[in-house]
Amino acid sequence: MNKQVLLTIPIVAALSAFAGAQSRDADLPHLEKRGLATQLIVDSKPFLVLGGELHNSSSSSPEYMKTVWPQLAAMQLNTVLLPVAWETIEPEEGKFDFSCVDQLLEGARENNLRLVFLWFGAWKNTYSSYVPEWVKKDTERFPRVQMSDGRSTERLSPFSKAVRDADAGAFAKLMGHMRSVDGERHTVLMVQVENEVGVIPESRDHSAAANLAFTSPVPASVTSFLQKHRADLDPELRATWEAAGGKITGAWQDVFGKSPLTNDLFMAWQYAIYIQQVAAAGKAQYPLPMFANAALIRPNYEPGQYNSGGPLPHSIDLWHAGAPSLDFLSPDIYFNEFALWAGRYARPGNPLFIPETQGGATAASNALYAFGQLSAIGFSPFGIDDQGNLPLDLAGITNPSERPDNSAVKNVYIVLSRLAPLILEKQKTGGMTAALMEGEAQRSARLYAGDYIANITRAGRSSGGERLAAMFIQSGPNEFLVAGSGDAQITFSSDRPGPPIVGIESIDEMFNQNGAWVRRRRMNGDENSQGQALQLYANDLALGRIYKVRLYRYR
Ligand code: DGJ
Repeated sequence: MNKQVLLTIPIVAALSAFAGAQSRDADLPHLEKRGLATQLIVDSKPFLVLGGELHNSSSSSPEYMKTVWPQLAAMQLNTVLLPVAWETIEPEEGKFDFSCVDQLLEGARENNLRLVFLWFGAWKNTYSSYVPEWVKKDTERFPRVQMSDGRSTERLSPFSKAVRDADAGAFAKLMGHMRSVDGERHTVLMVQVENEVGVIPESRDHSAAANLAFTSPVPASVTSFLQKHRADLDPELRATWEAAGGKITGAWQDVFGKSPLTNDLFMAWQYAIYIQQVAAAGKAQYPLPMFANAALIRPNYEPGQYNSGGPLPHSIDLWHAGAPSLDFLSPDIYFNEFALWAGRYARPGNPLFIPETQGGATAASNALYAFGQLSAIGFSPFGIDDQGNLPLDLAGITNPSERPDNSAVKNVYIVLSRLAPLILEKQKTGGMTAALMEGEAQRSARLYAGDYIANITRAGRSSGGERLAAMFIQSGPNEFLVAGSGDAQITFSSDRPGPPIVGIESIDEMFNQNGAWVRRRRMNGDENSQGQALQLYANDLALGRIYKVRLYRYR
């Protein structure tokens, strides 16, 4: 063999290994802008996450999970969100144990479920309860968030490089392992980095490092981002900045004013740049989509009463600037104003994914709205492994009447999984809308569906207070598939040029049979007020029923 050949072989081998890694990466689950929507692409096809998140402790025991997996599959979930705790994979510094992770993967695969991992690294709900014992006990090396009176809290400080590097190192090992065991199968679709970060009970860290950063100039990467994106900033952030004079130099209180919100924005930037390092270290090993989630704000709560520094609507821009390796930021929505909160996250550049939310009947309506109106990538009620068979303490519930009946989640997921190809197509092209009525006061809603206006009123048989959603998917110029979650009556009108009156040509009830929608009854009589209005019934989802409505116009 001559010298040239000897030299060439390793180079060619290295190049083809590189090309192999590149093409494998192109096949990995990823986000892609397709038409009007950003979608999650899995195995080259858009994927709608019909998910559920496990209680915090469930995934620490693959044994416990054995009986849970089949129940989740039976509920028609296609994806389970579950914690992977730092203490589980690195119980001793530098010694990694992925046996729990591997068994979770196996359990999911056996039940045909995909996963979204929740990295419980340095923080879980502001605290650092899931860090390994060697981190928890070493307060010298791994400093804590400090109160203004100098006391420590059980929260690692995001200003500590030692914390960040240890966290990022463990996360990188996890992602490297995932590439080796799941790089071909793609059981794991995405990863949430940390969980509901922020500080409480005060609005910022008062450690020496934090105090120094607080009085130092706001980094130019923050102010230049604000300047560049001024027109698209969250209105609350922009108003705060401009009310303080719209400055581009100065310390945090100079640029954002002397208020508790400034402390929140300061912490948001710090958590964002910390999580950027963790996410980037993980992506360097295995570049799955990654995100961070926010605990939202109760009415009249101040920073520190709520998680100060989390990826809240008013700090989304700072998070985008500080953590470009995160693909989006997500709300955990447990409040009644679902449309309001979800709407603040469904922004250009931030597709909507809801990792945690209420289950039960509430979830059925909210899911129709999230997918139909806000082009959500995914939806995931929390505590989904509680099928009514968990002891209350394990379910994290103190009042038995609070236990959600997740049969409603199953029902809506059956319908959504059958509609998924159409929903994904319409998210791209347009032609899909949904309305959500959230409370007693909301008796009616009005929305555009193609050239028509749908006027939705709660029906007399509805008790009035329940949440109710209706989703409209345009299936022809004058034809819509309608799915609803409660008793309602829908009439149609139009404000477009042409004959003024809108008539109902026909209403068919539709059921899914082996993947195809088939028509059963033509319902142009009593069921639909002699063809004058489409009636939705509270048991439609339980029956797996949707409607095909054809409209026409006349004088
Ligand atoms: C929000 C957290 O992110 C979850 O881990 C869990 O603690 C739920 N709250 C409980 O409601």
